[in-house]
Amino acid sequence: MRPVGIIGTGKYVPEKVLTNADLEKMVETSDEWIVSRTGIRERHIAAPDQATSDLAYEAAVQALASANLAAEDLDLIVVATVTPDMSFPSTACILQDKLGAKKAAAFDLSAACSGFVYGLASATSFIQTGMYNNALVIGADTLSRITDYTDRNTCVLFGDGAGAVILGEVPEGRGFKSFDLGAEGTGGSLLKIEGGGSRLPASQASIEAKKHFIQMNGREVFKFAVRVMGTATDDVLNKAGITKEDIDLFIPHQANIRIIQSAMERLNLPEEKCVINVDKYANTSAASIPLALVEAAEQGRMKEGDTVVMVGFGGGLTWGASVLVW
Ligand code: ACO
Repeated sequence: MRPVGIIGTGKYVPEKVLTNADLEKMVETSDEWIVSRTGIRERHIAAPDQATSDLAYEAAVQALASANLAAEDLDLIVVATVTPDMSFPSTACILQDKLGAKKAAAFDLSAACSGFVYGLASATSFIQTGMYNNALVIGADTLSRITDYTDRNTCVLFGDGAGAVILGEVPEGRGFKSFDLGAEGTGGSLLKIEGGGSRLPASQASIEAKKHFIQMNGREVFKFAVRVMGTATDDVLNKAGITKEDIDLFIPHQANIRIIQSAMERLNLPEEKCVINVDKYANTSAASIPLALVEAAEQGRMKEGDTVVMVGFGGGLTWGASVLVW
């Protein structure tokens, strides 16, 4: 099989910043509570005229430039998101049009915060088999549109953003070494949006009952997250035939600093081997891991040959992990 890796990166967050102090004016909360329980200090919020494809577009343009490719060179576009512009056409098709990526197949992928890693695994398989050469994989979410800003249990946790990578053939020895994807549908009710689908279409009643906002059982999701961050990391390292001592950079889903710290303790990883930006962006769902990855790349934190481990978890419930040699 052809070795497949990341040959271009890009990211985008909207300009507007919503700080913990701003949230103190909106709900009964405090900067102290938010920082101590989550590690979040601020998050970026999309402008009223920005939808997920707009965020994705900005990240995609950067990624194409960094890969030295034109949009016409893309064979595939995968957008991982739980906040598509609309039910259909897919955000990937909207983006394909905006980019002018006329030759690219395009689809959305729904795996919540694990979506980016699911997207990497899917696109890698297409390229490994020789079906495609260049794929754009984006994690993009506009969670502010599905967040109830009167619910202090959830509104402090989320932000908006997009991260993009171009996947293509890389020299032997580099690229993705293993993936571990999983799902635990029994836990689906712990994190959900009930309204707007075929089970509960939008209606006056569904709006009044706030069924179009995120509902979450924070404590149970927390327990799930700590558990699968451990098991998914073990599994993906085993599949790659390496140990935790081989990790050069660990990129966890940025949901809560306490979940990240528990993973670092379990892996015995020093802070300099872990990417943390939850303080600046909060939980941006599918955008979280690519935003962290791209920021780490921009800061020169990966050098050729480094072993990079990404691990995410989210609604579904789902998880996804990968081992990548940079
Ligand atoms: N400000 C002040 N108090 C608050 C706030 C707030 N913003 N939010 C909740 N509280 C209160 C609660 O009402 C509760 O009060 P009570 O004891 O009187 O009932 C108290 O704080 C403690 O609540 P806990 O649930 O015990 O707080 P916990 O320490 O578990 O932290 C949190 C809550 C941050 C939500 C945590 O459970 C968590 O991070 N869970 C994981 C969430 C997550 O990762 N979700 C995203 C998954 S990815 C995806 O797919 C989108």
